[in-house]
Amino acid sequence: MQFETDKSLTELNTLGFSQSAERYIEVETDEQLNEAVEEANKQEWPVFILGGGSNIVLTKDIPGLVIRFTRETLNYENRGEENSWLFRLKVSAGMNWHRLVRDSMSRGLPGLENLSLIPGNVGAAPVQNIGAYGVEIKDRFESLRALHLPTNEWHTFDHDACEFSYRDSYFKRHTGEYCITEMNLHVGNDKPFETEYGSLKEALERQQLDKLTPVAISDTVCKIRQTKLPDPAQICNAGSFFHNPVVPETQFDGLKQRFPNIVAYPQEDGQVKLAAGWLIDSLGLRGDRRGAVGVYDKQALVLVHHGGGTGTELVAYADEIRAGVEEKYGVKLSVEPQVV
Ligand code: EPU
Repeated sequence: MQFETDKSLTELNTLGFSQSAERYIEVETDEQLNEAVEEANKQEWPVFILGGGSNIVLTKDIPGLVIRFTRETLNYENRGEENSWLFRLKVSAGMNWHRLVRDSMSRGLPGLENLSLIPGNVGAAPVQNIGAYGVEIKDRFESLRALHLPTNEWHTFDHDACEFSYRDSYFKRHTGEYCITEMNLHVGNDKPFETEYGSLKEALERQQLDKLTPVAISDTVCKIRQTKLPDPAQICNAGSFFHNPVVPETQFDGLKQRFPNIVAYPQEDGQVKLAAGWLIDSLGLRGDRRGAVGVYDKQALVLVHHGGGTGTELVAYADEIRAGVEEKYGVKLSVEPQVV
């Protein structure tokens, strides 16, 4: 196998930090992946699996071997009675997530419309249980196939085995152990449209559509995202930089008394999820800039890199923001993307 050495990763991470990989290879088949991992294990190189690069903060060069799994296949299987409108999507990890969403939209298949325009590749989607506008990937997930890197053996994970929760999964808690190569999702007309999320509901009502369709919802989600979230091709970013923190109801009641405008969502378990964007915004930080890094001016939950900066600078700036939020609200923010 031919490994590239000292490979620049600047174009391969959406924050655009200029770090490199000691060794790098792109593989397209299961056999090539096994071969690359076997070599790395033999040579005792640490292995780092890189997807779309939209959820990582590179603070250093990556030692060992960086592998990108690039296969982009997509199959639709009927999973109900003949002629039913129930399908299983079998999709490989290298496909761009939004391309998958739009392909299913073009076939008129409901299911993924709320998850439109999320950056990154399919393989990374279950790791952080991507979610937007009231839907998470766990709501459409059936199973995935992944290579266990230390043993170079293939495993299948069903829904329970993935241990999904808000922006979290088994894989996020076992970083670096697996390379996900294929996922099965359920789409079709067995679930109602999810249109209750505040900004989506308002935007759909404004349009006074005669008929709600997956494409109409997807287009609306795209428009909302385009007004609030920076396109990584124009402004370097990694989406939301922090989780929305979940606090006990008693703590929320205290906060609500002191800060009546606080934005929050009650959870099924009685706890309350706070809008971290609001917390940061309320400190006057929207559009703030510290050298090469800053807070996006239309969404305070998104940190941006204006060019010429480093991941270390961004992480230090994020720490300052966390300290500010903790001092004022007594709430600890946790960083969402993987810091490398
Ligand atoms: N808000 C402000 N100021 C801000 C940002 C937000 O006051 O600068 C308040 C507003 O009241 C707004 C509320 O916070 O209504 C929620 O904001 P938004 O709808 O933009 O959602 P979010 O909670 O900030 C989450 C996800 C996003 C996802 C949206 C929509 C996380 C960490 N982020 O953001 O996901 O697109 O909901 O569902 O859960 C991502 O993970 O990268 C991501 C973009």
